[in-house]
Amino acid sequence: CGIVGYVGPRDAVPVLLEGLGRLEYRGYDSAGLAVVHKPSKGPAELRVRKTPGRVDDLAADLPARFRGSPGIGHTRWATHGEPTAANAHPHTDASGRIAVVHNGIIENADALRAQLTADGVVFASETDTETVAHLVAAAFADGAKDLEEAVRRALHRVVGAYGIAVLDAEHPDRVVVARNGSPVLLGVGDREMFVASDVAAIAGFTRQVVYLDDGELATLTAGGYRTFTLDDRATAKTPSTVDWDVAGAERGDHDHFLAKEIAEQPRAIERTLSGRLEERFSTAHLGGLNMDVREARAFRRVTILGCGSAWFAGELGAQLIEDLARMPAHAEPASEFRYRNPVVEPDTLYVAVSQSGETVDTLAAVQELQRKGARVIGIVNVVGSTIARQVDGGIYLHAGPEMSVASTKSFTSTVVAFALLALHLGRMRDLSPSDGGRIVAGLAALPGQIEQILDDEKRTGVIAAAAAELAPSESVLYIGRRHGWAVAKEGAQKLKEISYCHAEAYAAAELKHGPLALVGPELPTVAVVPDDDLAEKNTSTLAEIRARRGPVVAVGHREIPGAGRTLVVPRSEPELDPVLLSIPLQLLAYHAAVALDRDVDRPRNLAKSVTVE
Ligand code: G6P
Repeated sequence: CGIVGYVGPRDAVPVLLEGLGRLEYRGYDSAGLAVVHKPSKGPAELRVRKTPGRVDDLAADLPARFRGSPGIGHTRWATHGEPTAANAHPHTDASGRIAVVHNGIIENADALRAQLTADGVVFASETDTETVAHLVAAAFADGAKDLEEAVRRALHRVVGAYGIAVLDAEHPDRVVVARNGSPVLLGVGDREMFVASDVAAIAGFTRQVVYLDDGELATLTAGGYRTFTLDDRATAKTPSTVDWDVAGAERGDHDHFLAKEIAEQPRAIERTLSGRLEERFSTAHLGGLNMDVREARAFRRVTILGCGSAWFAGELGAQLIEDLARMPAHAEPASEFRYRNPVVEPDTLYVAVSQSGETVDTLAAVQELQRKGARVIGIVNVVGSTIARQVDGGIYLHAGPEMSVASTKSFTSTVVAFALLALHLGRMRDLSPSDGGRIVAGLAALPGQIEQILDDEKRTGVIAAAAAELAPSESVLYIGRRHGWAVAKEGAQKLKEISYCHAEAYAAAELKHGPLALVGPELPTVAVVPDDDLAEKNTSTLAEIRARRGPVVAVGHREIPGAGRTLVVPRSEPELDPVLLSIPLQLLAYHAAVALDRDVDRPRNLAKSVTVE
């Protein structure tokens, strides 16, 4: 979900609509606005408009007289209640003076709803958020002097995660916001203030931002802001300047953000590598780790945590670390990790991976680890995001804004960041200067090689043709061995996410232990077959599939016998091959989704960053 708010002399509506448009990638099954309208005569009043659709639908639906300031807006990704207009935010109290937008989940919403209902409140929606609007109104009824006090009193009764913004027609000069577990940042303008859950929403208006911490509230007026705690102690904040590439968040000439982000990978990887390769010592320079050699050498193991594509990138990262640094390393989904009672060892280095830096499952794992004294570093794209600020150092991807829900450039940039980390750890251990030099050169060559894959596809259209053949399938099997397996997992994930075609990744050797039973003319297989020491084994797996008349698309370094089509990529160093092997699988999923006329950038039911558990 996404929040945006504005206080200042302008009409808030265009500001909110622009902000919501930029946030839509985070969640998008409904959208809404509330503004304070100040008529020339009579008291200020709240105006609310919401729709179970996209921001464009909301904008199209707004009457010309829907104007005002301050204002708040929201795009929603349904958690409690279906995506209807009633369940869309903002939510109001019974008198219609208070409006609330909220990200997160209020855990005691059922209990609060029961208490409020017993007090005579009638609910208009099924959402947990609506309780906050009624709680604020109840605080006023109980004598709260101002909006700040009413919001503080309301939040004292709330258990759960929230980023909220509250508007009150009777305090028409301000917006009060609060953060607990769901991001909120203030944008400082010239005699105007902005608030958002994501810097993307306001970067077009100001670059001066203040990140709220958990447990903090803020009052925004045209003249500035004041931050304080739930117990009304003032807190001190300093604005920071965000370096946000507004052009990077525009679609440009591309049909979809996904196509643009796939095409941007050479530049994204260049930026991830920039200033970090040390040819002279055949190693990587990673200043952001905040770790001296003695500390770095003391680690004996690496555990990597992330969700979705970040987890699969972590699996490739674990193999790079094992290969280059000869340290035991593994990756697992951050959510599962924290549900266990994991054994946290002092000589394990923990790495949290997150493009957005806001995924709540990953953040919770980091916090649990830190409670147990672990050293956690981050591999994160969004500068200043919650996870980036929570960890003890790390590597920023600098891949630029990633807008499409399905991750592409941040996936490959993350694998590259892991290669740098593995090189760095490896050169302090057993990795020889010549092997280090080989990886340094291999990394430096990647952007040009990706360019070549993209150019070849423009010329030949082989991947688009393979996608057109795959698209009608009900299900597709993805297989690979060793790091090819992790490449297959991410390839299957891409297809599932954006084409809604079922896809399953399997370790190639495991095929004969189960899924081979499914193979036949109806079930195509995408096989990751690099030209390495396992090529022969992979070819025999393909023979087993062909013997059962299963269609095969291979991705590899040369035409693969037994495959109907091979998507050929240039050779890298064997450890770095996964980066290049991933590119055709991204394009395959993209073209399949386009062929099926899917909403490529905003697939149903998904959100770019999931800030709920
Ligand atoms: C969501 C997205 C995925 C993404 C995952 C982790 O589920 O739909 O594409 O891989 O979150 O996101 P993160 O921002 O933590 O990398």
